[in-house]
Amino acid sequence: MRFDPAEGLAGSIHAPADKSISHRAALLGAMSSEPVRIEDYLHAADTDSSLQAVAALGALVEVLENGVVVRGTGLREALEPPAPIDVGNAGTLMRLLPGWLAAQVGRSFTLDGDASIRRRPVDRIMDPLGQMGAELRARDERFPPLQIAGSRLRAITYELKVPSAQVKSCVLLAGLAADGSTTVVEPVRSRDHTERMLLAAGAPIVREGPRLTVSNVDELLLGELAIPGDASSAAFLVAAGVLVPGSRLLIRDVGVNWTRTGFLRILRRMRGIVIGDLEEESEEIVPYEPVSDLDVAHGALEGTVVEPDEVPLAIDELPLVALLGCFAEGETLVRGAGELRLKESDRIAGVVDGLRGLGADIEATEDGFVVRGGEGLRGGTIDAQGDHRMAMMGAVAGLASREGVEVVGIDAAAVSYPSFVSDLRAVCS
Ligand code: S3P
Repeated sequence: MRFDPAEGLAGSIHAPADKSISHRAALLGAMSSEPVRIEDYLHAADTDSSLQAVAALGALVEVLENGVVVRGTGLREALEPPAPIDVGNAGTLMRLLPGWLAAQVGRSFTLDGDASIRRRPVDRIMDPLGQMGAELRARDERFPPLQIAGSRLRAITYELKVPSAQVKSCVLLAGLAADGSTTVVEPVRSRDHTERMLLAAGAPIVREGPRLTVSNVDELLLGELAIPGDASSAAFLVAAGVLVPGSRLLIRDVGVNWTRTGFLRILRRMRGIVIGDLEEESEEIVPYEPVSDLDVAHGALEGTVVEPDEVPLAIDELPLVALLGCFAEGETLVRGAGELRLKESDRIAGVVDGLRGLGADIEATEDGFVVRGGEGLRGGTIDAQGDHRMAMMGAVAGLASREGVEVVGIDAAAVSYPSFVSDLRAVCS
């Protein structure tokens, strides 16, 4: 699909519901003892996979007009499904669900997914779950399909080897049913939706500096929750508003949990104009997700350096930092982002090859990239390679380019943001 240079984005638009929080709501809903009503659940390919997974494990899922109700089985009562659970393209589901399933004593589960999922490592969760006493097997001891034999789990203290919210969340979920108190040590902060939702569900969870401790609990009671707009999906609209001359755009109801707004802080450092009521950094776990409108306007940008400790707080938006870097004066450098190679596609190779094909002066490094900007982009063709965020980056690049961009595989956007193209067209003139 072609995205031609835009004259300017205007008006207001609702951000789609948050993917990360929707996954967690489906899982914690299935783990809860009472029905959970989830308002504004994201209906996209990834989060529909989560609903299908919990249904296969015995939860009843009722889809309503503006949300879903999940009637769960409870923390220790997941049913053994007759067939492998298909996580589709969803890495978050593949890494979080085993935390719950590992504690289902006497029951076995297999998790599998699409070709992209089969290339993404699961040894990062097999390591802590194995230490807790779970029995897991994977292809080459590293890749899906993943087999889990539920066991009685023991509490552990686990220092994360990769700064990953998925791994952290997996260990915390397993800790709910382990004997005693499980501690995850998180040297670098990452998104904390699991911690917030566990607190809201009545789980005993505390943070002391980098140490998160969760204790054995009889049941979870989540009740009701509303999913805020997705800061990562909104970031594509933000980038379009900042890059296309003449733009002034209001993006409504965006989740502004500070562990998700790293991209907006980077953008502000690049002198991008974005006004919103962003949550302040805090040590405390709070049982809710803050929301704000974001008011975005076009303006000139300056290059910046993204340091390793900022990476987990902006991990999914780093392709957009590269795109912004093409239009910014000077150099934009991202360091310590080797994890990008393990996402839905190798996002270092994809971003560098993709943007270079559109005229960018960009080079890959081992753990990031460097862009020499200021010239903008000519345009051309970019292949999304089945990766939703690469598809959406290509579309935004087209609007800001001189000659337009043909995005091969724009359909991939449906993984996280099914209405992306129509939303974008609605605010473009
Ligand atoms: C996610 C965490 C991130 C992110 C992914 C969603 C989550 O992965 O890239 O899109 O919902 O926990 P890692 O935590 O593995 O970096």
